[in-house]
This record gives sequence, C-alpha cells and structure tokens, in this order.
Amino acid sequence: MKRVQYDRYGGPERMYFGEYALPQLGDDEVRVAVKAAAINPFDWKLRQGAMKLFTGRRFPKAMGTDFAGIVESIGSKVRNVRVGDEVFGTVDFRKSGAFAEAVVVESHHVAKKPSQLSFGKAASLPIAAMTAWVAILDRAQVRSGSRVFINGCSGAVGAFAAQLAIAQGAHVSGTCGPGSRYSASAAGVHPIFGYSDRQAYTQGGKYDAVFDSLGTLGVGEGLSMLTKKGVFVDINPTPGRFLRGMLSRRYKLAFATMGIKHLTGIAELAANGTLRPTIGLEAPFSEALSVIADAENGRRHAGKMVLAF
Ligand SMILES: NC(=O)c1ccc[n+]([C@@H]2O[C@H](COP(=O)([O-])OP(=O)(O)OC[C@H]3O[C@@H](n4cnc5c(N)ncnc54)[C@H](OP(=O)(O)O)[C@@H]3O)[C@@H](O)[C@H]2O)c1
Repeated sequence: MKRVQYDRYGGPERMYFGEYALPQLGDDEVRVAVKAAAINPFDWKLRQGAMKLFTGRRFPKAMGTDFAGIVESIGSKVRNVRVGDEVFGTVDFRKSGAFAEAVVVESHHVAKKPSQLSFGKAASLPIAAMTAWVAILDRAQVRSGSRVFINGCSGAVGAFAAQLAIAQGAHVSGTCGPGSRYSASAAGVHPIFGYSDRQAYTQGGKYDAVFDSLGTLGVGEGLSMLTKKGVFVDINPTPGRFLRGMLSRRYKLAFATMGIKHLTGIAELAANGTLRPTIGLEAPFSEALSVIADAENGRRHAGKMVLAF
C-alpha cells in the first residue's frame, strides 16, 4: 500500500510516496479504506518538526490527519462502527498517516459519516471543526446576543467558527482577504474588515469574544478589543503565549480535541446544516505531493483541499 511519508523533518522536498504495511488490528481499533483525506496546515507543521517533542525521531513518518472512508475490519471490542460503515475521523497526530490508502485508528477516532456529506466534505471536518468548537463553544462560551470578532473568518477553522457562533445567535464580524468577502458575507459575517483596517475593528463597539484563527493579532491588541468580561481565544500559540494562556482568564488557547464526543457532535451539526464544509480543490491521491506543497507555499482555494482515493 502507498502513503505520503518522510525520513527527516523539513520542507516539502522531504515528502515521497512510500510503501507500507498496516499494523495488526488491536481489540479497540478500526481499519478504514481511505476514500478522501483533507489537508490541514497542521500536517506540514508536523512534517517541519514543529511538534518534534511529541512526534519524536523515529522515521519514516507518515503524513496526514483527517480522513473519511469505509470500515474494512474492526477489533473485538469496537462497538461504535461496523464493517462496511462510511466513517470519518482523525489519526492520532503522533502516528499521523491519513494521506494513505488505508489507516488503522482507535475506535474513538472515528464516527459515522453524515449520509448527506461526500467523503471529501466529511474529511474536511475533524481538525478544523473541532478547533472551532473548542474555541467558540468551550473557551469563549458564545451564546445568543454575543458580539464576536473572528480574525480570519474565511479559512477552514474561521469559517466553521463563524457558522457555530451564528448558529448560537451571536452577531459575528471579522476579517478576511478580498477574494473571500462574498462567501463570508453569505455566511452572515457583518461587517467584514480587511486585514489592514485594524483601527476600524472596534468602531461599532467592543466584543464579548475575539477569536484569532490566523495568529496575527497581538495579545494586547486582542484584549483591547474586548468588553470587560470578554475573552480572547488564540489557536496559534508561541511558547510565551502558551504560558500566558495557562495563567490568564481572558486570554485562552484552544486546540483540536480528538474524541468521540466532539466527532459525533460535529457529525450531528454537519447533518443538520449548521456546519457546512466547502471544498476548494479535490485532487487525486497521485497528485498529493504537489498539492500539499502548493498549499504550504500559500496557494489559496476558497475551501478545503482534499485528496481523493
Ligand atoms: N490549535 C489548533 O489545534 C489548531 C487547529 C487547526 C488549525 N490551527 C492553526 O490555525 C491556522 C488556520 O488554520 P486553517 O485550517 O483555518 O487554515 P486555512 O484553511 O488554510 O485558512 C487560512 C486562511 O488564512 C487566510 N490567509 C491570510 N494570509 C494567508 C497566506 N499568506 N496564505 C494562506 N492563507 C492566508 C486565508 O483567507 P483569505 O484568503 O480570506 O485571506 C485562508 O483562508 C493555521 O495556522 C493552523 O495551523 C490550529
């Protein structure tokens, strides 16, 4: 079987298609034939070595985290899915490898795919939607009437965050690039600012929650945009910000939380139309190396980049 892997941390030139054999299935594990895998910035950050403290120095390492596919076999203790089910999920980031023809994952890392969604759209959900959920619902506790500002409301995480906040009844404004204004506006974000309109962000008043999906707001800047009880949520921490996030009540960090509760919750929200994944590019797996490298080099598409198997 084929997968995208690398033998050293580094840039896109480290990636190649490698042959691999799946590990034997454990009692609580599921083997899935991958039909689609979505590309996240997280994937190339892992390959660049950004998390090497956790990912270690054993090579080769496989790339890719989010996938959707069909269950091929299950361990004796698996209860949540059956052979033949269409599922979506994530690979543990320490064992990444969703850019592959098949994966073995723990059963709590997969949930049934909403029948309305294609494999590509389902694969677009896990990391981005979970991060948005943790940021908007868990950390910022956005509710009806909240005033929310999303820096980067058009990316995968930012768009899901806007959808979740608007579904809660919040008033959402934010920033995006000129090519994304139409889709952000159609999603209900208003007003929409350009990235350089910083002095205008608070002209209409301060916010109960500021969510920075891009990591381009300073901590002081984000905090200055808040009402007295407001919360600034960041998902791109530096080591210094990490420490601050542990200590502060108003500056909080959010991370994708992989678990059955969030995965099934996301499946429900996608099934009822609250979360609406969009695909910007669907390319065959054979083109994975160039598509990942293009994404890493900043090539933009209005929606998720997905590999189809
Ligand atoms: N903490 C966590 O667990 C966690 C989880 C997921 C993601 N993240 C991080 O959050 C960030 C956003 O992730 P994402 O999945 O939403 O990314 P994404 O889908 O690629 O969206 C990023 C958005 O940023 C805007 N952008 C501005 N300058 C850009 C540039 N030079 N190149 C590319 N895009 C640019 C683009 O919108 P416009 O075209 O409208 O400008 C783009 O849609 C990443 O840094 C990622 O690593 C963290």
